[in-house]
Amino acid sequence: MTHFPNMPEPVPVIVSGCGAITKFFYASALAFLEEKRVVRVAAVCDPHEPNRAGIAARFPHAKSVARFEDVPFASDSLVVVASPPRLHATQSIFALEKGCGVLCEKPMAASLADAEAMADAANRTGRPLAVGLYRRFFRATRVIKEICTHGTLGQPVSFEVEEGGAFRWEAASDSFFRREATPGGVLYDTGVHTLDLLLWWFGEPSRLDYRDDAAGGQEANCTLELGYTPGFTGRVRLSRDWATRNTFRLNFTRGSIAWNVGQAGQLTLSLDGVTTVLRGDVLPRHDDGLTLLGHSAGEGSPQAFIHQLINLADAIRGRAALAIPAAEGLRSLRLIEACYRERRAMDQPWLSPAETAGLARLQRRTAA
Ligand SMILES: NC(=O)c1ccc[n+]([C@@H]2O[C@H](COP(=O)([O-])OP(=O)(O)OC[C@H]3O[C@@H](n4cnc5c(N)ncnc54)[C@H](O)[C@@H]3O)[C@@H](O)[C@H]2O)c1
Repeated sequence: MTHFPNMPEPVPVIVSGCGAITKFFYASALAFLEEKRVVRVAAVCDPHEPNRAGIAARFPHAKSVARFEDVPFASDSLVVVASPPRLHATQSIFALEKGCGVLCEKPMAASLADAEAMADAANRTGRPLAVGLYRRFFRATRVIKEICTHGTLGQPVSFEVEEGGAFRWEAASDSFFRREATPGGVLYDTGVHTLDLLLWWFGEPSRLDYRDDAAGGQEANCTLELGYTPGFTGRVRLSRDWATRNTFRLNFTRGSIAWNVGQAGQLTLSLDGVTTVLRGDVLPRHDDGLTLLGHSAGEGSPQAFIHQLINLADAIRGRAALAIPAAEGLRSLRLIEACYRERRAMDQPWLSPAETAGLARLQRRTAA
């Protein structure tokens, strides 16, 4: 174990929700940070005993509790809210009021109103509330942000985004498909990440055209056209069952960027007709806690989860500003709710005229 003589005591961590995201990402990130004495897992919470037991086994020194209210909260703990979205607001507000800092998984909440109540609680208590929009920690997405901010490739002209494929996430519950747990489909799920990046890079759109295939339930596919006041436009296609290219293509007056969603540390840049793949040391590095901790094993989602936790631990200790505070989490939910208000039926030419009419009726009923 590495000891840093001047390091403060590890930040106690409470994990609420021991499903897939905790199993595949938080558990390893927390184990790494425990090893470095940045955090110490104090409690894991999940009403489903088998899911909880799997995580508790990785942190045998932590308390294992079924009910969130029974967690032994100490102020200045770091609470990871990784339960289904409908529970995010209650659990985050409860934890903030106990004096804890919260890292809430995306979507920030099951409605914009709930998310706003969470942001209010963070303001009222003065405790940090971070939202798990982990892609903002990718080097590639940060470089794109810099390019947009500084106009390196000129002004934006258009973008096309395709994301998704057959739903393969090994969820530990049916929470993704029950409206009582998650109010929307693909847009409310991975779409939160997609829209968050677009909002971060390009700001709020001034008009939208949103279509999906929901027939009274959750959408598996959707298309979104966005218009921006400076005069550029963008198209987004998301899917839970069609193969897509999983790429962002961003066109500017002097060049373009192609970014593959799975490549945290690589992007393809064309400037004045010359195309270059940026990766490795060519892609600028930002100074980060991971390098300081001696982490050298690649670059991707696992590392981004570690970054999120380091940032919140530092914010709890008053040593850093939050990278993704509550106000940033509100932006994608605001846009998603606007999309659902404007929802129209997606073209589905394989449906019969009677089925198309039935779909339109179901959509009107859902909107009402
Ligand atoms: N950052 C990402 O890219 C990403 C990826 C997947 C999931 N997520 C998000 O993480 C959250 C959890 O997703 P998941 O894939 O782990 O879901 P999951 O269905 O696999 O697990 C949810 C877990 O929450 C537990 N739970 C239910 N009620 C609870 C309560 N009252 N308190 C504590 N736990 C409770 C369930 O028993 C289950 O173990 C969701 O908000 C989801 O959108 C984020």
